[in-house]
Amino acid sequence: MNYKLAIAEHLQSQMEGVDAAQIADLLEYPPNPAMGDLSLPCFRLSKLLRKPPNAIADRLKENFGSHPAVEKVESASGYVNFYLDRTRLAHDMLDAVLQAEAPFGSQNIGQGRNIVIDFSSPNIAKPFHVGHLRSTVIGKAIYNIYEFMGYHCIGVNHLGDWGTQFGKLIVAYQQWGDKSKVEADGIDELLRLYVKFHDEADHRPGLEDEARAWFVRLERGDEEALALWEWFKEISLNDFNRIYELLGVSFDSYAGESFYNDKMDAVVQELKDKELLEEDEGAMLVRLDEYGMPPALILKKDGSSLYHTRDITAAIYRKNTYDFEKAIYVTGSAQSLHFQQWFKIIEMMGYDWAKDLVHVPFGQVSLEGAKLSTRKGNVIMLEELLRQAIGKTKAIIESKNPDLENKDEVARMVGVGAIVFNDLSTNRIKDIVFSWDEVLNFDGETGPYVQYTYARGCSLMRKAGEADGAVDPALVDASLLVNEEAQNVLKQLYLFPEKVEQAMHKLEPSLISRYLVDLAQSFNRFYHNCPILVEDQALRAARLALVESVRAVLRTGMNLIGLEAPEKI
Ligand code: ARG
Repeated sequence: MNYKLAIAEHLQSQMEGVDAAQIADLLEYPPNPAMGDLSLPCFRLSKLLRKPPNAIADRLKENFGSHPAVEKVESASGYVNFYLDRTRLAHDMLDAVLQAEAPFGSQNIGQGRNIVIDFSSPNIAKPFHVGHLRSTVIGKAIYNIYEFMGYHCIGVNHLGDWGTQFGKLIVAYQQWGDKSKVEADGIDELLRLYVKFHDEADHRPGLEDEARAWFVRLERGDEEALALWEWFKEISLNDFNRIYELLGVSFDSYAGESFYNDKMDAVVQELKDKELLEEDEGAMLVRLDEYGMPPALILKKDGSSLYHTRDITAAIYRKNTYDFEKAIYVTGSAQSLHFQQWFKIIEMMGYDWAKDLVHVPFGQVSLEGAKLSTRKGNVIMLEELLRQAIGKTKAIIESKNPDLENKDEVARMVGVGAIVFNDLSTNRIKDIVFSWDEVLNFDGETGPYVQYTYARGCSLMRKAGEADGAVDPALVDASLLVNEEAQNVLKQLYLFPEKVEQAMHKLEPSLISRYLVDLAQSFNRFYHNCPILVEDQALRAARLALVESVRAVLRTGMNLIGLEAPEKI
């Protein structure tokens, strides 16, 4: 049931020249329930209808007549306020959540069309750090949301498996490396070698030249260089996969940067043919002065390719392979210029689908104010972070609920959920300062709080089920859910489909995270003020149906943002 549209359609006959969708767009949720459940500000209509807002509001109220979803209409200082019929709201929501065949909130906007989402994309031989975690978590949530809206998503892990760093790593490995140590410690050891390279290169400038030479060998397919590179990649993927497993994330394609090695020549040629390439001291670049951006390097003096070259090639490949409606790239905002540059180049090449390329930037994560940089080894390795979260959650469970079954499994779901939720709790573009106290607070606006609320709902249903079996929503008397607390929960439920759709359009999963906290809070107020397992069978059934609805929406919402939903905590 879409009340905005229903009311808009009903009002339309009173407003010539304005269509229902326009009116629906104008309808707002008043901040204060004393001003109704929905409100139509008449200020913008005033121009169209050539009447003062007050007069429009008065007339709309006078002529409203009746609508089954609306109990009362008021006109107040240029606004028309609508009060929803409480029984009707309860009936509609229970019906939509518990009876409908498709999951509540899902839609088929996409009709199976393709969306490519490039996310996570860590770099081989470098640790998976907190920035990659954000990309993974935000990217996966966007993936789930698009699928829920009827799209077919292709999740691409654009592994950073090519570039000059491999020259450095080969040099470092040959000078100071030890095979068994790399095998035992994986990325940790590769990182140690990488950091050592930089420390040494500070006073041995020749090292940089050696590294460059090795990278050129790699680009030319030198066997020794290739074998080492393959091995670094395998070691790194083993480590990454442990993290993806903890997060429950997988990809449809692992075609990384190296995948485009044999596809770049054609694209460079195309850039030449289209007269976009310019030589500059032996290097090749595309000038973007006209667009207020620095030039984009396409080939270095030694002929080796760059990040831009690979991204342009990858985009053309993806368009040809998946014919996407949108290609989405999730990275830190530090890369915004990079994406703006090459999106522009795609446009200059004459591809009209340049407009379908979307960069989804996000802010930085800092730990006690320290910036995270791989080069100096100042990183929190994500795996360690996740394991700490799991450990800390386990300790909380041990002290609060020592008899819980599957403690380890629940600690994993909640610990990982806490980290995931923290990454999605504010607008993605904002920087995050990581604080353990906030992340794991069961009473705060956190993942554990939402999961705990869900488990509370499950526990209620278990208790009820043991006594009298499940509730049949079709037999529930909706008029028993008209009190304030129940109505607040129902209004929250009503908002869910709208929030998910907004989250998709704005590529902003935090809209769902924040929604889940709101829903959990309204549910907890209901739970504290309205006893549920009461004697009165009809009241009990009605309240249980509401519990069941909240439980379903919390679970759907959590799954959308990549949180698991434990039934007991
Ligand atoms: N590997 C890059 C990094 O760690 C992210 C790659 C993002 N995707 C892309 N197509 N450029 O910063």
